[in-house]
Amino acid sequence: MERIVILDFGAQYNQLIARRVREQGVYSELLPPMSPIERIKGDGLSGVILSGSPDSVYSETGRKCLPGVFSLGVPVLGICYGMQLMTYMLGGEVGKAPVREYAGVHTHFEKSPLFDGIPDSTVWMSHNDMVTKIPEGFTVTASTADCPVAAMQNEAKRLYAVQFHPEVAHTEYCAQLFNNFVHGICGCAGGWSPEGLVDELVAGIRKQVGSRRVVAGLSGGVDSSVAAALVSRAVGDKLTCIFVDHGLLRKNEADEVMHFYRENMGLNVIEVDAKEYFLGQLAGVTEPERKRKIIGESFVRVFEREAKKIGGAELLLQGTIYPDVIESGSGGASVIKSHHNVGGLPEKFGFELLEPLRPFFKDEVRAIGEALGMPKELVWRQPFPGPGLGIRVLGEITEDKLSILRDSDFILRDEIKKAGLDRAIWQFFTVFTGMRSVGVMGDSRTYDYAIGVRAVVSTDAMTVEFADIPADILRRISNRIIAEVPHVNRVVYDITDKPPGTIEWE
Ligand code: XMP
Repeated sequence: MERIVILDFGAQYNQLIARRVREQGVYSELLPPMSPIERIKGDGLSGVILSGSPDSVYSETGRKCLPGVFSLGVPVLGICYGMQLMTYMLGGEVGKAPVREYAGVHTHFEKSPLFDGIPDSTVWMSHNDMVTKIPEGFTVTASTADCPVAAMQNEAKRLYAVQFHPEVAHTEYCAQLFNNFVHGICGCAGGWSPEGLVDELVAGIRKQVGSRRVVAGLSGGVDSSVAAALVSRAVGDKLTCIFVDHGLLRKNEADEVMHFYRENMGLNVIEVDAKEYFLGQLAGVTEPERKRKIIGESFVRVFEREAKKIGGAELLLQGTIYPDVIESGSGGASVIKSHHNVGGLPEKFGFELLEPLRPFFKDEVRAIGEALGMPKELVWRQPFPGPGLGIRVLGEITEDKLSILRDSDFILRDEIKKAGLDRAIWQFFTVFTGMRSVGVMGDSRTYDYAIGVRAVVSTDAMTVEFADIPADILRRISNRIIAEVPHVNRVVYDITDKPPGTIEWE
């Protein structure tokens, strides 16, 4: 198998490097920086990429990799910090950059297999340190006005490095550079695609499950549904699905998704009403991470109870996908949020985990869903977080707040659908901000709640832009929410991209 490993030194955009490699038709995964050589070599290795990082190579906490990485016999590409680390570990020097570049910068390229077909053009720079002396055997292959060593290589040893970020779309020839590295330098043929892996995934699931029973938590979201369809294909009626109504669902959601699961997908699903249990556990809790952990733990407790009722199941299926794994801190990056199906799991619970979608990005999961013949309405549903509306009511969750949130969210969804924007917008929902402000309705003063509208466009939820919804549609959404939902007198539109924001408010 062709495989490119990215050693993850903790920059927030490292997942994008994996995506760029996969777009070239080669499987790529992120590993912790000090991964043992045998783990890096794994089952076929075509190349290694050293990622960016917030660290500095000279600081005590600066993350390093094993020196053996540079003599694996496969090409190595250092990106930003990866280039500085390569320099430091191979005897060159790194110093403070006199001018901190954080922008698109015009760059001159020398002849190099890495820059084949790339003219002088703009690249994305973001760094404090830079290479001041290249290691022996290297030559400089790119420069900018403020960065004399913007790239370097040692062709004999197949070591390449760039100070800039080729994974970011602001680098004009980003795809060409990855094409050059993956195919030209690493010699990969490509051809990997997630939908082409269905048979292999099914075989892997059968092997892990054996003759045991699996219990699956369905959330109505894309990931858990595709995971269930895959496992159902693999082990048929050894799979029992549980759909937990935790009281944090959107309006009509339970009925809609149960219909899909039973009628369209023929899954064996038990619907559990656990509203009181969840809301009881969450009573009085305001801190977002605490809420996430409580919801994660409550899910597992409900599964354990239900699994006992069906005569025992040893495996718990989770719709964990790659960004969940990385954003929950399994890679080198810092924890942003504990996604309930990864970081939110309690330490002790009575199941072995089955997570067949763990290596995939959201759009890859959708491709697998389509390859499995799942209904398009389900595959293309907008993502819905496991903790549900629990992370869209800021602060303490109460029935009253949930009701306001559900009604406003229903109106938003209705208007976005009517405007034909539901496929173009990645995610759209309302947020109960908990903030009250003064308004005037029917000649009287009001002092009521503000509802936030969040709508974003994205391809993978890692970076997003707020959606450009036309003003007349926004106005209709606002007018309807204020007119139809009691106790709301103001609607605000969230104009924050990710980063610096996140999609959900908690
Ligand atoms: P953020 O808010 O981190 O969200 O920008 C990125 C994507 O992940 C979804 N999300 C979750 N999904 N469990 C999930 O299954 C979670 O705990 C969770 N938290 C956020 C969010 O809706 C968006 O699509």
